[in-house]
Amino acid sequence: MADKKLRSYDWFGKSDKMGFVHRSWLRNQGYPDDYFRGKPVIGICNTWSELTPCNGHLRDFAEIVKRGVVEAGGFPLEFPVTSLGETIMRPTTMLFRNLASMDVEESIRANPLDGVVLLTGCDKTTPSTVMGACSVDLPTIVVPGGPMLNGRFRGECVGSGSFNWAIKEKQKVGNYSEADILEMEIGVARSQGHCMTMGTASTMACMVEALGLTLPGAAAIPAVDARKKVMAQLSGRRIVEMVKEDLAISKILTREAFENAIVVNAAVGGSTNFIIHLLAIAGRIGIDLSLEDFDRIGSKIPLLVNLKPSGKYLMEDFYYAGGLPVVLKELKDYLHNDAITVNGSKLGDNNANNICYNQDVIASIDQPFKKEAGIAVLKGNLCEGGAIIKPSAASPELMKHRGKAVVFESMEDYHQRIDDPDLEIDENSVIVLKGVGPKGYPGMPEVGNVDLPEKLLRKGVQDMVRISDGRMSGTAAGTVVLHVAPESAIGGTLALVKDGDFIELDVKGRTLHLDISEEELTKRKTAWTAPEPLATRGYVKFYIDHVQQANLGADLDILRGGSGSEVTRDLH
Ligand code: FES
Ligand code: MG
Repeated sequence: MADKKLRSYDWFGKSDKMGFVHRSWLRNQGYPDDYFRGKPVIGICNTWSELTPCNGHLRDFAEIVKRGVVEAGGFPLEFPVTSLGETIMRPTTMLFRNLASMDVEESIRANPLDGVVLLTGCDKTTPSTVMGACSVDLPTIVVPGGPMLNGRFRGECVGSGSFNWAIKEKQKVGNYSEADILEMEIGVARSQGHCMTMGTASTMACMVEALGLTLPGAAAIPAVDARKKVMAQLSGRRIVEMVKEDLAISKILTREAFENAIVVNAAVGGSTNFIIHLLAIAGRIGIDLSLEDFDRIGSKIPLLVNLKPSGKYLMEDFYYAGGLPVVLKELKDYLHNDAITVNGSKLGDNNANNICYNQDVIASIDQPFKKEAGIAVLKGNLCEGGAIIKPSAASPELMKHRGKAVVFESMEDYHQRIDDPDLEIDENSVIVLKGVGPKGYPGMPEVGNVDLPEKLLRKGVQDMVRISDGRMSGTAAGTVVLHVAPESAIGGTLALVKDGDFIELDVKGRTLHLDISEEELTKRKTAWTAPEPLATRGYVKFYIDHVQQANLGADLDILRGGSGSEVTRDLH
């Protein structure tokens, strides 16, 4: 007979009318009556979608996870959730991350699930599912879909994402033809999987492994490697055990786990988007994490992983070198090694005996790839709520810089004028982009690393200081100040910057300063008027009304915290 302790018992265990209803319709799939009764019901939360090419293989993966669930005595039920395809959705997937998380949360809670497997891949599909799962708090395991194989083009390794940012230069300066670009398109995307640079998707995979939400070693395995399928099947087995052990996600996601993730993100050279997503996840599970924690905990950690965009290799190389377990072993003096992971063991114990097979890809802690990594959190009158920069992806000579602002009021304004030969701009200028924050765009798109003006590219200029309230792709690099809070659309100081103002960036001193007098600043503040709201109905209006600033993770205010897994009312 059914185990009364299972949440699903409430649906399937009873012999009354509703027990009949819940079981009967499910049996139209042809299940024998003892196939699910009394067994832990495992939801397989699938972000598969043909509109999310990075997750295109997850339909097959769900079947493999199911094998593991059945083997371990569970009953798997796969369900689709909103999937966010980074390269296709407009205006930006970030606008929908919170919406997808609501879908995940409510789908889990409303259904007879005892445990959940999250199938993830492309950038936002990891944080959105984890955020939703946190707000319910059932036993949860993540199966990251895995990166594509290394991109290949005319004998060279090329990284997905990272190459995009060089296309303008290749076309304008390197004389790339249409045919060259066509040939390259499939060369950088030659297998199933997500971006194979240390962009946001790979960063998110490393994040969930560091948090203890995956089986050890899951993050780096390429999507098409047979060992990824083994990992999926083992995860299916393990989630059934987790239900029996009542190992809810809140038992894994402790303050220590979050600190571990910050350390690891620094050592792998992870994406700046990591900050926003980790803050949002912390908000859901009730851990008090702040922007300053990222600097305090992460900025002294050396960079160990030599992957694009901070280095030269790609995820496939990372996996062959030993993957994240080697990094976790190297970092043991910086980590909370007692943190419990989904396999029930401590992080330190899981990773004590790993071997590095290529020290050029994963350096040792004694001889790191770069001495300092992580994220620098800037403060100053230009960003009272904070702003961030990723020093490992920036130019050392620009880390302390004073330059004249060249201001673009919007993305459209930028596109219209940036290549104007008469635009007054040189390599010392500071490009300021407004209107790309959470409320302002809306959705905080990845545009912070705007291309340099054509005339400066032709002169050989490769980097300039760029400042915005937007984000940047995890695959991008440059001296780019991001996530300026408060954003310009709500009247942050960024909104008040004018052409010709001097801006001072001092990464070492952690400051970002707009060099105008207090009186002038106040005058401009008084004269400022808020832009027209960009939506008057629907989800987008709801988003604009409720989204928090970047330094709080850009989650909706009403979504912080959780509501648990209890559903007290029946449907009849
Ligand atoms: Fe999906 Fe990069 S576009 S991971
Ligand atoms: Mg991205």
